[in-house]
Amino acid sequence: MKIDISTDSPLKHTSPALVVGCFEDARDELFTACDKALDGCLDRLAVSREFSGKVNTTRLLHTLGRLPAERLLLVGLGKRSELDNERLRQAAGTAVQALRVARVASFATVLHLSGRPEAALELVCEGTLLGSYCFDRYKTRDRDEQFGFEGMTLLLPKGSDRKITRSRIERTSVVCQGVRLARDLVSQPGNVATPAFLAETARELAKQHKLEFRVYEYEELEELGMNALVAVGKGSSELPRLIVLEYRGAGQKDRPVVIIGKGITFDSGGISIKPGAGMEEMKTDMAGSAAVLGAMQAVAGLKLNINLVGIIATAENMPDGKAYKPGDVITSFSGTTIEITNTDAEGRMVLCDALHYARRYKPSAMIDLATLTGACVVALGHEASGLMGNNRHLVNSLKLAGERCGERVWELPLWDSYGETMKSDIADLKNAGSRDGGSITAGWFLKQFVGATHWAHLDIAGTAWVDKSRPCAPKGATGVGVRLLIEYLNCL
Ligand code: BES
Ligand code: MN
Ligand code: ZN
Repeated sequence: MKIDISTDSPLKHTSPALVVGCFEDARDELFTACDKALDGCLDRLAVSREFSGKVNTTRLLHTLGRLPAERLLLVGLGKRSELDNERLRQAAGTAVQALRVARVASFATVLHLSGRPEAALELVCEGTLLGSYCFDRYKTRDRDEQFGFEGMTLLLPKGSDRKITRSRIERTSVVCQGVRLARDLVSQPGNVATPAFLAETARELAKQHKLEFRVYEYEELEELGMNALVAVGKGSSELPRLIVLEYRGAGQKDRPVVIIGKGITFDSGGISIKPGAGMEEMKTDMAGSAAVLGAMQAVAGLKLNINLVGIIATAENMPDGKAYKPGDVITSFSGTTIEITNTDAEGRMVLCDALHYARRYKPSAMIDLATLTGACVVALGHEASGLMGNNRHLVNSLKLAGERCGERVWELPLWDSYGETMKSDIADLKNAGSRDGGSITAGWFLKQFVGATHWAHLDIAGTAWVDKSRPCAPKGATGVGVRLLIEYLNCL
């Protein structure tokens, strides 16, 4: 969606719709002016409680020539004293979703005037760009019924600096493009988004943004000894890969941050096969790698002054005569041996080799993102990603980044004693222990492969995909992780 700016007065600007924020307990000048132009209609709506400004509610009115805007879309902001960044972001998402329902393709907004001037512009742009997302690539029927947004015009106070405003909008839209890339990749079905497809996507990204690119194909993975990644990929005719992207925005000597994504393009569970119901959702098991690609794109677009490496361990987890199986012992890339007790615990297998590989960069920090455990969904639902790590500063920074950007994370403990159930009689480790504390034992397993490197693990199993629409994430893929990483990296 195109975003324009104008210094027209909201009462004089012509557009198909004007979006106005409304508090439950306060009225600003603009609201009062609109009310007056509409002969007290807004006041009526409040008195009759048809629209009282509650959070994330909307009301669309036709102005019938009383205002140059054809329609007025009121968006609830709740109590004035409770308006925070996330509320404003969500209000913008709620508004744009209501406009989609009404099929209003272009509109003007003054929502940003309700928030703090330092941040409101970005928040409204972000909410709008995220809330207007729709994945309809495979809808071929009723083409003429399909709807696409044209543009939004931000109405600014007279005397606003256009250049600064434009660059603020541009930076926000670069980040949202990253989120949209991640959402697209996660939305794609497993027969399209294969390991080869992820590698091609990364290659194109590298070409566009002048990143270093490398992909390790099957034979090279075998030669290198990435046997854990190879083992998971063995049951599929879609061969596994390790994909590496390097962005240089700082000096040679600056140690990079490494971000690592789980890229299981379909997780059937393998020989420890999953139940059929809901298995289609396992096309989203590459959401960690989608977040890595989205974040690499955004960081390159923003030209951040950091060095960043993105690593993707990708495979399809399938049952087959060649598939790895329970009881197998695999010597991982690090040399640590792993007894397979459940082939459905494949994410930690592909990640352990990627984490070990990442250490060659001597990173200042490494962060992995993975739809790793169903247990994380049980623990935190869809409201927060699980966070674990071995470094207090890194963990706290990610928590703060999560608060600021609205992608919340919640820390789980990683005490050594959680490792008891991961001990094997035959090898160094088992890949799956008891069901209890499943997210933590998975995190504990990963920790065995990071050495002393500062490391954090984000379990996004519950946050990468939502069954019910949210203001800034229509149902489906959320692109979680991209904004969190950018927020974290931006504050380094
Ligand atoms: N990809 C799944 C985890 C998952 C579950 C992601 C639900 C998104 C929604 C992962 O590979 C998996 O199967 N984990 C197992 C681990 C167990 C076998 C130790 C799980 O959570 O049941
Ligand atoms: Mn699995
Ligand atoms: Zn999985």
